[in-house]
Amino acid sequence: MAIDGARFLRDLHRLREFGAAGVGKGVVRPAYSDADIAARAWLAERMREAGLTPHFDPVGNLFGLADGPSLLLGSHSDSQPEGGWLDGALGVVAALEVARASARPVSVVSFQDEEGRFGVTTGSAIWSGALPLDKADDLTDHTGLSLAEARGRMAHLAGDFVDPGRFGGFLEMHIEQGPALDMSDDRIGVVSDIVGIRDMNITFTGQQNHAGTTPMALRRDAFQALSLFNMRLADRLRNVVTPQTVWTIGHVALHPNASSIVPGRATFSMQWRDGDADRLSRMEEIVRETAAEIAGEAGMELAFGPMLGIEPVAMDGDLRAALESAAEQVAPGRWRRMPSGALHDAANLARCMPVAMLFVPSIGGISHAFEEDTDEGDLVAGLDVLARAVDGLP
Ligand code: GLV
Ligand code: MN
Ligand code: MN
Repeated sequence: MAIDGARFLRDLHRLREFGAAGVGKGVVRPAYSDADIAARAWLAERMREAGLTPHFDPVGNLFGLADGPSLLLGSHSDSQPEGGWLDGALGVVAALEVARASARPVSVVSFQDEEGRFGVTTGSAIWSGALPLDKADDLTDHTGLSLAEARGRMAHLAGDFVDPGRFGGFLEMHIEQGPALDMSDDRIGVVSDIVGIRDMNITFTGQQNHAGTTPMALRRDAFQALSLFNMRLADRLRNVVTPQTVWTIGHVALHPNASSIVPGRATFSMQWRDGDADRLSRMEEIVRETAAEIAGEAGMELAFGPMLGIEPVAMDGDLRAALESAAEQVAPGRWRRMPSGALHDAANLARCMPVAMLFVPSIGGISHAFEEDTDEGDLVAGLDVLARAVDGLP
């Protein structure tokens, strides 16, 4: 098929203008923000030009539908609160270019809130049936806004949910977001499996008090409790984790967050990821036990928020083989099979159809940061692999 690398790069750069921020090619385009909604409207027009029928569902997932049964390609176009220009956007724009060029019917999707402002890969989790809509509607972002309120901003665009049964499979192209390809000579990664994730908020509530007059021994300082928890958790996890296991406290809200007040409340995100579902469960026990232990010692009330998660998932053998054969054509001897340590919409879609993914290198292994970037030659090579894989499917 005749893909147009220059047109693909032009579209990618144009999409970056929605929410362009920070140094380099940074983007601030969180789900349901003005920039996100404007970017989706722009994408819908590109889909229409490509001969697809644009369709928004009730949560803001945007589909460009081919007539009749088709293959689905895409990713997401929302960003982290501080993100790069390629995370998600690459897969959507590559899908658009393949849909334009392919003789086979190809539909395109940009899932909503993959970056988890409200959950974990929220839009595709709802669409694939992993997360019931009424439960999702109660999820809140860090400001307390609910998903129900946020998706109301797109209600004027919303149609019904698209039937997943109309798609024969899903292919997602993405940047690696880690250092493996960049540190090697390989230009393409074909994903073997995607790790699982668990994510929840934890709150320690102590006693807000005066920072000058409250003796250290009498304080019930929620930040001190969190600090202790963080250290002890690392210690407790040591015998359970592998070098590939990761855990992150990435968001902390101290109340009232003032220099002269002993913090009365600390609410923080607790996230962990691993390729083994049993290990994820064992880690959950340790997280809960350690938090309870610290709460007891430090005189804290303890509350756990809803537990969100996705199971580890293997990629489909046939789709993966098509990607591998295409990778060998485009980059002979310079591609590898590799697991994905990042979460992707494909992990949810595996519930309803065969899925597979390919990666291109991330310069310096940096992502979820303004500095995220990939050599444009690698971007076009990845597009070529995707197009050839689509062509090569039976
Ligand atoms: C997705 O962006 C993730 O956090 O892995
Ligand atoms: Mn992504
Ligand atoms: Mn991301």
